[in-house]
Amino acid sequence: VPLDSLNTLRLPARAAWFAAVDEVDGLRAVLDDPRVAGLPRLVLGGGSNLVLTGDFPGLVLHVAFHGRNRIQEDTDAFFVRAGGGENWHDFVRWTLDMGMPGLENLSLIPGTVGAAPVQNIGAYGLEMAEHFYSLRAYDLETGKTVGFDKRDCAFGYRDSFFKQAGKGRYLIAAVTFRLPKAWAPNTGYADVARELETQGIAHPNALQVSDAVIAIRRRKLPDPAEIGNAGSFFKNPVVDAASHACLAAAHPGLPSYPQPDGRVKLAAGWLIEQAGWKGRRLGPVGCYDKQALVLVNHGGATGADVLATSRAVQRDVQARFGVELEPEPVFAGEA
Ligand code: EPU
Repeated sequence: VPLDSLNTLRLPARAAWFAAVDEVDGLRAVLDDPRVAGLPRLVLGGGSNLVLTGDFPGLVLHVAFHGRNRIQEDTDAFFVRAGGGENWHDFVRWTLDMGMPGLENLSLIPGTVGAAPVQNIGAYGLEMAEHFYSLRAYDLETGKTVGFDKRDCAFGYRDSFFKQAGKGRYLIAAVTFRLPKAWAPNTGYADVARELETQGIAHPNALQVSDAVIAIRRRKLPDPAEIGNAGSFFKNPVVDAASHACLAAAHPGLPSYPQPDGRVKLAAGWLIEQAGWKGRRLGPVGCYDKQALVLVNHGGATGADVLATSRAVQRDVQARFGVELEPEPVFAGEA
């Protein structure tokens, strides 16, 4: 089964076996099929944070669990649950239409609801973890459905239990969010504040914040429907205070974001641009000309081409700044 249209970098790869699953009994039936016994498995959502380095020699499980509901309400908050296969952005807009703001800063992020907790998606001053309540996952090893609360998920910056100890083991069937009724716009991120100011909006509602975020993303980030990409390709590196002081002295203009633990987050996009990679390409894969942190497939790239450009960027940033860039997406497939 070709996976070309199921990964937003649009890398050519095939799955030996493929099943779209929309409920637990169907999933069980697929997993019990003797033809796929013992083969590796890959859980696939929107494929927007995935690098397929080659064909996948096992079973690809495409998550198609659907539904979105307001399941509960207390004096302080609404609780909403969505199936893992729901489109993330459509879900966010639905919450806003239903009068439950909170997720608007995460508008237009590609991918599915079930993939959101895996890397704790974040943008414009908000991480998904902030409004996460719980999730239900299917354990592919034991065949049981398990509940996870926020602590179980061990969320970090673009990180969770599902990228660490729980990697590859769970299929996230549904996620519940807690959206507090007390709401204030989160416009601390400079780009968002500037966009709203340009539009002359002093007291935005949640829909206006969502629209501002959409406008910024459309300007800076390539639309996967038009040009293959997986969003930010590297995490923003976090360095200790002493290394930061050295770097800042040597490189005026270095964007720095102090962290609660005293360390400092750097802007990988800035480092990559300074290393000369903005808009530059190596073969069919290059750094986007409006946001150097995004690797784009200019057409016809394979997983090997992505790896080649990724390694060249890492090497040049390391040589110039002594900083190691860690890829953000998940890698799968034969090398
Ligand atoms: N910058 C440059 N050159 C570039 C890109 C960025 O100098 O080519 C500078 C910017 O001028 C700014 C700083 O780097 O001073 C940060 O740039 P930006 O605000 O665009 O955000 P980012 O750190 O590059 C992160 C997330 C994005 C998220 C934005 C907005 C990561 C890895 N990326 O990017 O998330 O949308 O902030 O909050 O944390 C994603 O994860 O796929 C993603 C797109």
